[in-house]
Amino acid sequence: MCPLSGFLTSVIMACSAPAVHSLLLLLLLGTVRGGGSEPEALHPEKLLVLTAATEETEGYQRFQRTAKYFNYTVKTLGLGEEWKGGDVARTVGGGQKVRWLKQELKKYVDQEDLVILFVDSYDVIFAASPTELLWKFLQFNQKVIFSAEGFCWPEWSLAEKYPPINFGKRFLNSGGFIGYAPYISSIVQQWKYKDDDDDQLFYTKIYLDPALREKYSITLDHRAKIFQNLNGAIDEVVLKFEKSRARAKNVAYDTLPVIIHGNGPTKLQLNYLGNYVPNAWTYEGGCEICNDGLLNMSELKEDMLPQVLLGVFIEQPTPFVPEFLERLITLDYPLSKLRLFIHNSEVYHEPHIQAFWENHKHKFASIKIVGPEEALTQGEARDMAMDVCRQDTTCDFYFSVDAEVVIINRDILKVLIGENRKVIAPMISRHGKLWSNFWGALSPEGYYARSEDYVEIVQGKRSGVWNVPYITQVYLIRGETLRHELQEKKMFTVDLMDPDMAFCKNVREKGLFMYISNKEEFGRLVSTARYNISRLHNDLWQIFENPTDWKEKYIHENYSKIFESDYFEQPCPDVYWFPVFTEKMCDEMVEEMEHFGQWSGGRNEDKRLAGGYENVPTVDIHMNQVEFQSEWLKFLLDYIAPVTEKLYPGYYTKAQAVLNFVVRYRPDEQPFLRPHHDSSTFTINIALNSKDNDYEGGGCRFIRYDCKVESPRKGWSLMHPGRLTHYHEGLPTTRGTRYIMVSFVDP
Ligand SMILES: *[C@@H]1O[C@H](CO)[C@@H](O)[C@H](O)[C@H]1NC(C)=O
Ligand SMILES: *[C@@H]1O[C@H](CO)[C@@H](O)[C@H](O)[C@H]1NC(C)=O
Ligand SMILES: *[C@@H]1O[C@H](CO)[C@@H](O)[C@H](O)[C@H]1NC(C)=O
Ligand SMILES: *[C@@H]1O[C@H](CO)[C@@H](O)[C@H](O)[C@H]1NC(C)=O
Repeated sequence: MCPLSGFLTSVIMACSAPAVHSLLLLLLLGTVRGGGSEPEALHPEKLLVLTAATEETEGYQRFQRTAKYFNYTVKTLGLGEEWKGGDVARTVGGGQKVRWLKQELKKYVDQEDLVILFVDSYDVIFAASPTELLWKFLQFNQKVIFSAEGFCWPEWSLAEKYPPINFGKRFLNSGGFIGYAPYISSIVQQWKYKDDDDDQLFYTKIYLDPALREKYSITLDHRAKIFQNLNGAIDEVVLKFEKSRARAKNVAYDTLPVIIHGNGPTKLQLNYLGNYVPNAWTYEGGCEICNDGLLNMSELKEDMLPQVLLGVFIEQPTPFVPEFLERLITLDYPLSKLRLFIHNSEVYHEPHIQAFWENHKHKFASIKIVGPEEALTQGEARDMAMDVCRQDTTCDFYFSVDAEVVIINRDILKVLIGENRKVIAPMISRHGKLWSNFWGALSPEGYYARSEDYVEIVQGKRSGVWNVPYITQVYLIRGETLRHELQEKKMFTVDLMDPDMAFCKNVREKGLFMYISNKEEFGRLVSTARYNISRLHNDLWQIFENPTDWKEKYIHENYSKIFESDYFEQPCPDVYWFPVFTEKMCDEMVEEMEHFGQWSGGRNEDKRLAGGYENVPTVDIHMNQVEFQSEWLKFLLDYIAPVTEKLYPGYYTKAQAVLNFVVRYRPDEQPFLRPHHDSSTFTINIALNSKDNDYEGGGCRFIRYDCKVESPRKGWSLMHPGRLTHYHEGLPTTRGTRYIMVSFVDP
């Protein structure tokens, strides 16, 4: 069954029709163990599963999927009716289910060989086949079997009336029972109570009456041979992978239950097990249900694509925000179908948003920007954005994305929409780290807890779509879901709770599933820790904290070709020339230096040096003056050392350098530098601006070879030995200002 939202009716569904086949094999039970009379064979066609559900929730769909996988014949009572059975999550109730059963079972009173299985559906999954179920049923050699649990509910005072047992769970749970139709029918015919009276109490009283217990031949499944109620038993149940199937195993009783019931507060544990059992993910087949119910978005014409509201949140100073914003433009989705809501709470980022808005305001269907002057809390801003989609019935999807999310998959919207879920997040993590945008489990207090599969999901060793208790930073929600299940306006602002935790709690309490997909790679998270915005171009300092994004922004796109295809030149003997910086790096470095402004006077006396004296002075600023020294050394190590080792084979640099500086040459200041050696094993000299555009003249001459590099290329570095052979001079700059970045490596 695939839920269809209005706009998608023309999409070809990958769902197959719900064909339910019955197993045609007759059971041969020649191997039944245990004393007593040999039970008769039971044909799987003689099993009817009854369940009750008023709505086709995601839990119900999961139940149906597992039932279909094993070819159970299921009949659902109550679909579309109003639920009057009370709030069973919080209190007693459920009597309405018995009323429906009473009505339904009148049809089967005379069918003596028909076996009825009644189970709840929102929080139940099947883990084994009808054949196995019936075999286990016959083994009990009773007419009716109820599931058991460790809590006596709803009247704990009845506990002492229960027959004593040595081992196993003692008390009746009415979320699952199995028995011959005439017996079950007789039991439920006694129901004469209200819809919100308690069903479990009703069955319990019958079971606790010794005469009735015997009359109906009722027993409890104390050791979870058939029914596993998870409440109070979480530690007893583990995943067990069989060849092409996953099961839940009860390690306390060494049983493999057929039906898993997430009763009481164990919905999340059931969701976890349901990510595997029976075939959702297996070692052999991987994610076997990943192609169920997908929408093929590539079959939709552009103008048929759904409208999406992009909610963008900048809630703290965040590195690489201009790049983040520009990436929105490159999504593979018609911008005319995208509305933009940006909440920015940082004055620091206002110029970034301004620039983005000026360049792209006409490209989107609409843009709404809420700035720091509105003084909204993060939760209020998120509520506001979500409500924009909720209130607008043309808003088909709400895609929320925080500024620290680096989307590298341009298809992300189509892929996530195609997953056809109510709430789904793309899995993203910090590059190479275990930090991600989901939690696999919750602690009892509702905070983070690591699930057993967390690492394997983050690292992509298990790939699929996972039902998890907490998602954050980037996710897609159907507009319809906002207008229906999530119509409460205050999703993020609940008391003093963290907004994302409040949101996820609300979603969970509505019984909605939050999925996270790691079927493909979607992107990564930048780290906002230690982001200091006291400088002009603060991203320059991010080489340690966010090396991947730093590289993308600042390292020349052809840098890697140095190694792949000898992309470098040798303009003079042993002088190499290669690309290393982007234009952005050059510009930001120059601007940062001019912003700092404390250029040396180009005199021999230099207080910045250990000896206080510079033989061949330049007008310059040292990296340590702008507190860029350790970042610069990291750059040398990561980007220059590998080039050195390629171009001067056999020499292994320590990538140490004391003198690292930006030099400024001007006709009216210091236009050139007289011939000199450098106090280095090798020197790098990177041009930070463009000849002819920014200045004329300039360049470098190596005297021993009378060889000049006269047309420096912006972003390219010269690398040459420092002493002895490479006596050199800086040629005069005749117009404008020339900037170079110099480093004396391994002095
Ligand atoms: C369900 O029925 C189909 C068609 O009869 C069969 O191919 C499939 O193996 C059955 N599945 C199980 C788990 O028995
Ligand atoms: C989706 O549709 C396109 C175009 O018709 C087709 O080429 C592609 O194979 C389909 N993909 C899936 C997963 O069905
Ligand atoms: C940010 O950097 C400036 C300049 O180095 C420094 O004075 C300040 O203490 C730093 N702030 C934080 C929070 O680290
Ligand atoms: C990188 O190399 C390619 C191929 O030589 C060239 O077309 C491109 O302009 C280079 N990129 C830059 C930024 O110079």
